[in-house]
Amino acid sequence: MQQIQSVPVQIFDLAVRLFHWFQVVLLAGLWYSAEQEWYGLHQLLAYTLASLLGARLIWGLIGSETARFRHFVPAPRQLRQYLTNKTPVAGHNPVSALMILALFLLVALQFASGLMTTDEVMTEGPLYSLVPDWLSSLAGSWHELGFNLMLGLVVVHVLAALWHQLSGDKVIGAMWHGRKPLPADTIAPRLLNSVKYFLLVVILFCGLMGWQGSAVWPQFLADLQTIQAM
Ligand code: HEM
Ligand code: HEM
Repeated sequence: MQQIQSVPVQIFDLAVRLFHWFQVVLLAGLWYSAEQEWYGLHQLLAYTLASLLGARLIWGLIGSETARFRHFVPAPRQLRQYLTNKTPVAGHNPVSALMILALFLLVALQFASGLMTTDEVMTEGPLYSLVPDWLSSLAGSWHELGFNLMLGLVVVHVLAALWHQLSGDKVIGAMWHGRKPLPADTIAPRLLNSVKYFLLVVILFCGLMGWQGSAVWPQFLADLQTIQAM
C-alpha cells in the first residue's frame, strides 16, 4: 500500500493563536476576580477580552484565510462529508467550527450581560441603570448560568481537541505553533501579517476605556491595594 507523505503546513496565524490562549487566561482571571469580588480587575479583564474578541470577529471578515468565517463555517453538506470521513483539515474542521461559533457567542453574551449586572454592593455594569428591571435581572441570572454553560462546552471542546491530537490530527500543536502535518499535496492557506489584528485590539480597548475608563480605573486601583495588603 502506498504511504501518503505528511509535511508540516502553517495553517493558523499569530492573531488566531494569541487570541485563543489570551482568552483562556482572561476567562480564568475573570472567574477568579469574581470569586474574590475584585470587580475593578474583573471589569478591566472583561474589557480586554471584549477587545480581543471584537477584533477576532472583524478578523473573521478581513483576516487570514483560515481565520475567516467564510472559510470555516460549514455548509450542512461539508458537515456530513466530514462526519463520514474525518481527515485532518487545513484549518478548523466543520464540527469544531460549530463549537467555536457557540463559544464566540457565549463569551459575547457573557460580556453583554456583565454590562447590565450588579453585585448589589459597589459595582454596576454601565448599562444596568439604563435597561428595564426585567432585562437587568435576566442579565444577572444569565451572567452566572451562561458562564457555567460555557464551562460545560469548554470541557467538551478540550476533550475533543485531546482526542484529535492523540488520534493523529495534531490540532493542539496547530493552535500552539500554527503548523499541522498534512498530506504533501496540501495547498497552504494564505496567512496575513497579524499586526492589523493587534491594531484593532488596541483601537477597541482605547474606545472602551474612553467610555468606561474613568469608572473602572479607581475600582481597579482599590483592588490592587487590597491585593497588596493581603
Ligand atoms: C476557556 C477555555 C477555552 C475557550 C473559551 C476556547 C475557545 C476556542 C475558540 C473560540 C477557538 C477558535 C479560535 C479562533 O479561530 O479564533 C478554539 C480553537 C481551538 N481550541 Fe480552544 N478554547 C479553550 C480552551 C482550550 C484548551 C485548554 C485547549 C487545548 C487543550 C484548546 C484547544 C483548541 C484547539 C485545538 C482549537 C483548534 C480547533 C480546530 O483545529 O478546529 N482550547 N478554542
Ligand atoms: C466575558 C466577560 C465576563 C466573564 C467571563 C464574567 C464572569 C463572571 C463570573 C463567573 C461571575 C460570578 C458569577 C456568580 O457566580 O455569581 C461574575 C460576576 C459578576 N460580573 Fe462578570 N464576567 C464578564 C464580564 C463582566 C462585565 C463586562 C461586567 C461589568 C461591567 C461584569 C460584572 C460582574 C458583576 C457585577 C458580577 C457580580 C454579580 C453578582 O454578585 O451576582 N462582568 N462575572
